[in-house]
Amino acid sequence: MALWTSTTVTDVTKKEENDKVTSPAEKEDSWSTSKKNVGIDLGYGFVKLMDGANELIFPSVVGVGKEIKFLSDSFFQKNEVENLVVTYEDRQYFVGNLAVRQSDIASRSLDQNRVTDKNAKILLLTALGLLAKWDNQIFNIVTGLPTDLFGAYYMDWSKSIKGQYEVAFGSNGSKKVKKFSVKEARIIPQPFGTLYDQILTGTGAQTQQELARLVVGIVDIGFRTTDFAVANELEFIDHLSFSTNTALSSAYRIIGARLREDYKIDKENHELDRIVEQGAIRIAGKSYDLTGMKKDAYEQVATKIITEMDSRWDYRDFDVILLTGGGGKALSEYLLPHFPNMRLVDRPQHANTRGFQKMANGVFSDKH
Ligand SMILES: Nc1ncnc2c1ncn2[C@@H]1O[C@H](COP(=O)(O)OP(=O)(O)OP(=O)(O)O)[C@@H](O)[C@H]1O
Ligand SMILES: [Mg+2]
Repeated sequence: MALWTSTTVTDVTKKEENDKVTSPAEKEDSWSTSKKNVGIDLGYGFVKLMDGANELIFPSVVGVGKEIKFLSDSFFQKNEVENLVVTYEDRQYFVGNLAVRQSDIASRSLDQNRVTDKNAKILLLTALGLLAKWDNQIFNIVTGLPTDLFGAYYMDWSKSIKGQYEVAFGSNGSKKVKKFSVKEARIIPQPFGTLYDQILTGTGAQTQQELARLVVGIVDIGFRTTDFAVANELEFIDHLSFSTNTALSSAYRIIGARLREDYKIDKENHELDRIVEQGAIRIAGKSYDLTGMKKDAYEQVATKIITEMDSRWDYRDFDVILLTGGGGKALSEYLLPHFPNMRLVDRPQHANTRGFQKMANGVFSDKH
């Protein structure tokens, strides 16, 4: 059974319009500049967000806030996304890279059930706060859930996102309170963001008619999960879609074990991200090259993903297989030679977010 379908996005738009009879006063309000359609991809590794004009990313790490000594107030304003101190319901958190750098206890765990997960809410509110440029900004959101969690959680998550929020950014002297609300929230299977990015224009209209008529596989390799999703003429085919836990963090685990073995050094998962990106590690002032180790680990993970894919799919059943996610980029050189109909999408780590945002523009077109 297809849990979520969208024969065309314009159909969804029409339904939204029919659902709501707008009074002239409301109509006037809906034209206010304080409304924004946003796409947010709440990944296990990174939060990606965009509102059409701005595209931002920060690690999905939430830590307990504490006093930071020797930092001026202007430090926080300089590079907002690197220095996220967030206060929500009287508790202070460090979020993203600041949590990686400064929190004694920082976690990158997102629960399966986002509704009961405090971290998920903090990450979402941080993202919205970054995009809130007006007092009482109103947001319409499209976001995703991993393919295998979608059916169980999308309704509750959508309900729990909507509401009014008050979140303070910065610390002590430079604290700025932001008030905003989420009016509409739409949840889709995460990899469908990439598909919509391919077929929609910036305003949410369909351009790529051909892709919309095909059987498309989407392989979204992230930090902790790889999502395999199937779309037949844009319809989500639930029974052929699945998720696995083989992703880039599997490569980090392999690299972490090798670092322990070879250099007797222990690195947390979120610290490894930067080390792997640089392909080198500094120990006692000396730099050690890790490119060979990285290549081995990527190759092992790619091989496992190929096996998982072959056990559930026959790649010849698909017209096109879209490879996406930050991990898609990282592993593409090992995956693409195996599947002649697979192609890596443009700027893959942000592809879901771009699609979410385009869809928001289409679905909520009467509301901005
Ligand atoms: N250009 C790139 N080359 C290599 N690796 C990259 C590139 N861009 C991103 N990555 C890595 O890809 C990984 C996965 O990123 P992504 O943001 O897609 O994961 P996520 O969506 O947070 O995770 P999940 O989908 O499991 O929830 C990260 O570890 C990131 O460092
Ligand atoms: Mg992802």
